[in-house]
Amino acid sequence: MTTIHPVYLVGAGPGDPDLLTMKAHRLITSVDVIVYDKLVSAAIMDLAPVGTTRIFAGKQARNHHMPQPDINSLLVDLALSGRKVMRLKGGDPFVFGRGGEEALHLAKNNISFEVIPGITSSAGCAAYAGIPLTHRGLAHGVRFVTGHTQGDNVFDIDWQNLADPDTTLVVYMGLTNIRLISSALIDAGLGGTTPAAIINEGTRSDQKVIITTLVEMPDVVEKTPLSGPTLLIIGKVAGLAHDLAWFHEALDDSAEARS
Ligand SMILES: C[S@@+](CC[C@H](N)C(=O)[O-])C[C@H]1O[C@@H](n2cnc3c(N)ncnc32)[C@H](O)[C@@H]1O
Repeated sequence: MTTIHPVYLVGAGPGDPDLLTMKAHRLITSVDVIVYDKLVSAAIMDLAPVGTTRIFAGKQARNHHMPQPDINSLLVDLALSGRKVMRLKGGDPFVFGRGGEEALHLAKNNISFEVIPGITSSAGCAAYAGIPLTHRGLAHGVRFVTGHTQGDNVFDIDWQNLADPDTTLVVYMGLTNIRLISSALIDAGLGGTTPAAIINEGTRSDQKVIITTLVEMPDVVEKTPLSGPTLLIIGKVAGLAHDLAWFHEALDDSAEARS
């Protein structure tokens, strides 16, 4: 009789392999199959042994490589074949990662699963950019929202509620609608001079951080085409990056130490 193993729904963190949990690392080096997303960095996939089967289920806004129902069915089929299966996702599987949908599908098919959290990109990017998300005196809370719309859905967000100068707003998948996001927040009363950070490829060696303002954010992006994942952090705390950015200095120091 075939032994059915639990499917591991694992967060890979934002990209730097040193940010993997020990459990994620142990599983990457011991499962039979890894079904992975576009957001999982090459440096992390390189940790898998040569014999591991890798299945790319990558997704980009408007360019779905493998439709979600197919990914759900694939996980069930692989588990039923008796192989040890890992579903590896960028960041945390339960933060804008559709990990919940996959877990529900596995549960519906009586396949057990484990969820291994990862560092979500807002935490990873903020730390590596030098932005304390809830710095005392500047922000008494933080909100995570998506800036991406599905199909024809209206971009239906309560901007009035989000335009709070004392709360940090982190926008995942916000690049495409950056102009709309900026003007909607300003129309809702958030000052145009509110600091804003645009973080591209956060925590990776090619991380780019642009500190600007809410009103200037769209033009800055137009002038600096960015590829790869990008996160927006809007709020007074973004200004602290001027004093607290450390990551590239650390990279420079380690290059110097090696030479
Ligand atoms: C589909 S969501 C997945 C979020 C992921 N589950 C997480 O917890 O970070 C994809 C979005 O996450 C953000 N993102 C993920 N990794 C990132 C990185 N290394 N740098 C900047 N943004 C990142 C971007 O906004 C990207 O468009």
